[in-house]
Amino acid sequence: MNVPEIFDTLAYGPAPESASEAQAWLEKHNRKFGHFIDGAFTKPAKGFDTRNPATGTHLATLTQGTAKDVEQAVKSARKAHPKWAALSGHQRAKYLYALARLLQKHSRLFAVLETLDNGKPIRESRDIDIPLAQRHFYYHAGHAQLAPTELLDRAPLGVAGQIIPWNFPLLMLAWKVAPALAMGNTVVLKPAEYTSLTALLFAEISQEAGLPPGVLNVVTGDGATGEALVASDVDKLAFTGSTAVGRRIREATAGRGIPLTLELGGKSPYIVFEDADIDSAVEGLVDAIWFNQGQVCCAGSRLLVQEGIAEAFHAKLKARMDGLRIGDPLDKCIDVGAVVDPVQLKTITEMVAANTEGETYVAQTDCPPESSGGCFYPPTLITGLAPSSTLMQEEIFGPVLVSCTFRTPDEAIQLANNTRYGLAATLWSENINLALHVAPQLAAGVVWVNGTNMFDAAAGFGGVRESGFGREGGWEGLLAYSRPAKAPRKAASPQAFQGASNASLRGDGAPADPLDRTAKLYIGGKQARPDSGYSTAIHGPKGELLGHVGTGSRKDIRNAVEAAAGAKGWAKSSAHLRAQILFYLAENLSARAPEFAARIKALTGKSGSAEVEAAISRLFAYAAWCDKLDGAAKPVPLRGVALALNEPCGVIGALCSPAQPLLGLVSAIGPAVAMGNRIVACPSEPFPLVATDFYQLLDTSDVPAGVVNIVTGPHADLARTLSEHMEVDSVWNFSSPDLTAQIEKAAAGNLKRSLALFPDWTDPATEGREMLAAATEIKTVWIPYGV
Ligand code: NAI
Repeated sequence: MNVPEIFDTLAYGPAPESASEAQAWLEKHNRKFGHFIDGAFTKPAKGFDTRNPATGTHLATLTQGTAKDVEQAVKSARKAHPKWAALSGHQRAKYLYALARLLQKHSRLFAVLETLDNGKPIRESRDIDIPLAQRHFYYHAGHAQLAPTELLDRAPLGVAGQIIPWNFPLLMLAWKVAPALAMGNTVVLKPAEYTSLTALLFAEISQEAGLPPGVLNVVTGDGATGEALVASDVDKLAFTGSTAVGRRIREATAGRGIPLTLELGGKSPYIVFEDADIDSAVEGLVDAIWFNQGQVCCAGSRLLVQEGIAEAFHAKLKARMDGLRIGDPLDKCIDVGAVVDPVQLKTITEMVAANTEGETYVAQTDCPPESSGGCFYPPTLITGLAPSSTLMQEEIFGPVLVSCTFRTPDEAIQLANNTRYGLAATLWSENINLALHVAPQLAAGVVWVNGTNMFDAAAGFGGVRESGFGREGGWEGLLAYSRPAKAPRKAASPQAFQGASNASLRGDGAPADPLDRTAKLYIGGKQARPDSGYSTAIHGPKGELLGHVGTGSRKDIRNAVEAAAGAKGWAKSSAHLRAQILFYLAENLSARAPEFAARIKALTGKSGSAEVEAAISRLFAYAAWCDKLDGAAKPVPLRGVALALNEPCGVIGALCSPAQPLLGLVSAIGPAVAMGNRIVACPSEPFPLVATDFYQLLDTSDVPAGVVNIVTGPHADLARTLSEHMEVDSVWNFSSPDLTAQIEKAAAGNLKRSLALFPDWTDPATEGREMLAAATEIKTVWIPYGV
């Protein structure tokens, strides 16, 4: 093409980036890699090839990690841990800082290698992936420095097992490794099989940084290696990848007591209101769905556009799609590179081919043909889909945007939330009131207003619902790599109270009082008879019959969850109102303190006054917290704010402590209700009569119907229904360690959060932030400024 022709077409010429340094690095290793264990590379062993998806050419052969390799890596990490954890924050900070500097020093090598291995455009690896990875290490060097003084009450977990995907190979490494090391953990990382090269290069530069052997270990391999890491003796597991594998990991780790964070898939809505700056919103879409060929967990893959502007918007979008350049990812002018692997290309192709609805538009731009040996898929838009269409619901993980229209903001919110996922959401409107009205109502861990795919190490990232749990980034990300430095005192066994538990007996015994005083369940603000038609006799320590409680069953739990799910208004109520109601509840308990103390004494044989006093104080504490758990404005490198908002989890199912029937109950209800959740509480199994007295207090304290529901009965049965229920967002097991495995396994269904704690609830450490964190989800709302 000559100069006049270039002026005529304004077409970009090729601007290829050289791959020679990256190729030389591969050659230096003879294109064969072992694992990185105990500070050195192991001898390459039986393995698999990694290829350049843009050309199909072989890049290197990697070793398939066996269970033995994983064991060796975990051993090395365990050996290194005590020394690493014992370093001062400043010493650890220096290592993290050195890693950040080295990432900067070798930035072009990392960027080119990433593009060769993954297929993403060099513009992205050079300007987004690698700088963000550097930023993560800088930021966490700061955390390493500050953690010992700012997080006095937190301690490292030990060895962290980390499994990462192929879409942002080095960036996901940084997201996982930096906070783990900063908090004093050591790491065994398994990169994705398609894209392990930058992790191996990073391991190499960790030698340059002088990182002590064993602090960072990298074991390559496929899902089987991942499974071996999940099964290994680690103290923490962090996973990013598909929801299906996340669910399997939840099941596999059930009951093992290791903290788990899961960052899974999404089908994130991209909402365009009619008053949006349309050109910006179109440009945003390019970043939302064609960034990294759409292989982004938080991709704005579901366009919801207001009906009045839909036609014009789609027309502009199509014109923009036609201008996208697809091809050699090493060319600096390329917008859309190669899909990661032929397997992924096949998945995308088949999903789109199976769709028979709506209208499909394929970008009118040159896309390298299959014969090029590369994995290219053209930018595609499918309009006019029904909200329930498969492609509106399932993650495609490719450069394919699906779209439908809406009429009102309420409909937009409904459509946006009509998915099993809850990772991210984007909304465009020039009306700040509308934007800030909608953002809190979106089921998502991250919301971007008038922008999209903004990330920073200082801001938390993570999902709700089947997009997983836990946050990465910010102070909140450190929680996932630490535990309370001092564990609360352990609970006394309920037998210590010598109560005669007859929970397993059904309908036995006759009360001394011929009037039936069977305490009912409390559901939706009303007393309800148990669906089973059974009741359980409750005896005192000397065997005297104290009364009966309803034997709750599956149906009762379902009714209680329905009532709780219906009481949505509580989440929107003001913190001041919630505080007043909790104070009032405490006041009413105080007024009846002697009666409750006598009840505890009758049930347990021990004085109940101290427990009642502790329960009153606890309710005061959570009333106090209602309006004091601050969010944050994160100092992200952006002209604007990233707000971290504490939102309620939703519906919490709680199996309460057996031993402290009143204190255990309010220790669950308090934090849940204070933060705007609704709760289905199953009170102490041996001593439930305190809880059935308690609901009279709920009635007189203005607690709205459905906010607190109480179902008595055998915890093993109730736990099953609670943890399987799709409308329950979190299950708290304070009842028995024997139930944890069953609960966590069933919780994999909708990937609900779970918490298992068996403390002595009189320990002050059981009150406050730890419990409030369990009762909240942090939503990060990004609001850039500018006109
Ligand atoms: P994947 O979830 O299978 O792979 C992610 C990581 O998990 C890889 O390191 C893999 O080796 C490992 N892994 C696989 N099976 C495992 C197991 N049983 N136990 C432990 N680790 C295991 O994702 P894949 O197959 O690469 O992609 C499939 C789909 O997953 C994509 O089409 C996309 O929809 C979704 N995905 C979502 C990601 C996200 O960031 N949310 C990232 C990658 C994929």
